[in-house]
Amino acid sequence: MQTCYWKLQNNEQDAEVMSKAAAFIQAGEVVAFPTETVYGLGANGLNSEAVAKIFAAKGRPNDNPLILHIADVKDVEPLTTGLNENAKALMEAFWPGPLTLVINKSAIVPDAVSAGLSTVAVRYPSNKFAQQLIKACGCPVAAPSANISGRPSPTNAQDVWEDMHGKVAAVLDGGNCGIGLESTVVDTTEPVPVILRPGGITYEMLMEVLGEVEIDPALQGDANYKPKAPGMKYRHYAPKSAMYLLESEGAKLLPKFAGNALAEGKRVGVLCSKETAEALRADCKGLNLPAEASEKLLISSWGESLEELAANLFYLLRDFDRTMPDVILAEGVSESGIGLAVMNRMRKAAGYQIVIVVDGEPSLKIGELPLFMLK
Ligand code: TXA
Ligand code: MG
Repeated sequence: MQTCYWKLQNNEQDAEVMSKAAAFIQAGEVVAFPTETVYGLGANGLNSEAVAKIFAAKGRPNDNPLILHIADVKDVEPLTTGLNENAKALMEAFWPGPLTLVINKSAIVPDAVSAGLSTVAVRYPSNKFAQQLIKACGCPVAAPSANISGRPSPTNAQDVWEDMHGKVAAVLDGGNCGIGLESTVVDTTEPVPVILRPGGITYEMLMEVLGEVEIDPALQGDANYKPKAPGMKYRHYAPKSAMYLLESEGAKLLPKFAGNALAEGKRVGVLCSKETAEALRADCKGLNLPAEASEKLLISSWGESLEELAANLFYLLRDFDRTMPDVILAEGVSESGIGLAVMNRMRKAAGYQIVIVVDGEPSLKIGELPLFMLK
């Protein structure tokens, strides 16, 4: 399939692009588009055959339901048998924005979208291009993240193109996504709402509106719990190189581990804050490593704040698939605010290879430390 690539310019030419993109979606085709979180792969959410094309393009398991995107609060009504007070309060506080609500579904929502569940996930994005597209389509737009299943979600149109050209009708390029992590998913059908996936609308923000909110215990990576969002159970975001996440006190061991791995001749990818990156570069100078050893140190810094980390994380993880280090060492961060969502994605990317310090000694949460960390 020939894939069209259309750049959105924020001028009057966009209207023409939007109507061509909407025509594809109305004809049952798939179009990738920007949102404030990550890029989505959109199709007519009320057309099972169109929805099946999304699953095919991504290579996504059929038991993983999709989010329906709307561009007006009142468009949620036909999709549900009714909204409770918690759902209404969250819509009022956070829509449009990076919050997806799981609600009881009505009969018009195809099983292909809800993967046979009695609920449906709905989101009203704040991104203007997303809103224009959904309005032009005149139907709810089913859209998962626009990556091949298992890869990090794309946060720019080039990354979408890499995964989707030849598989979808068009890619709309609306620049970089501001938030960079997928929306928060909240199940509002429980008496106390449950966060199934943390995201840009934080635990603290939800608590302020609801007074009470739970976090799905499966998010901690405990194999005894099955996640309530089917998508959260899959291996996800993992770069091709082995990745270790250094949490809490473990983060302080980053320079030592990097030095040991370099001494073994490994190419070492480091994912860290600007401050840590600067300290590491100074350390390397102090060590007087031979030129070829320092060339093997690939430092990817996300900047200074948790928001910058969220915005850059998926791009940096994808970049490691281009540079392919032998090992990736990632610095853990605080779980406050958007840090909860960041740490959830980083733990998955690391395949739960998490280094912590126990009784003053480094240890891996699951399994054995690799040799270069034992020196
Ligand atoms: O930010 C986002 O949410 C992006 C953009 C494109 O809007 N979309 C996105 O979709 O991340 P996707 O399909 O990659 O992730 C949707 C998540 C999955 O973990 C899925 O299992 C869960 O939401 N989900 C969807 N419907 C559900 C339902 N009825 N009950 C529980 N979880 C559901
Ligand atoms: Mg996804």
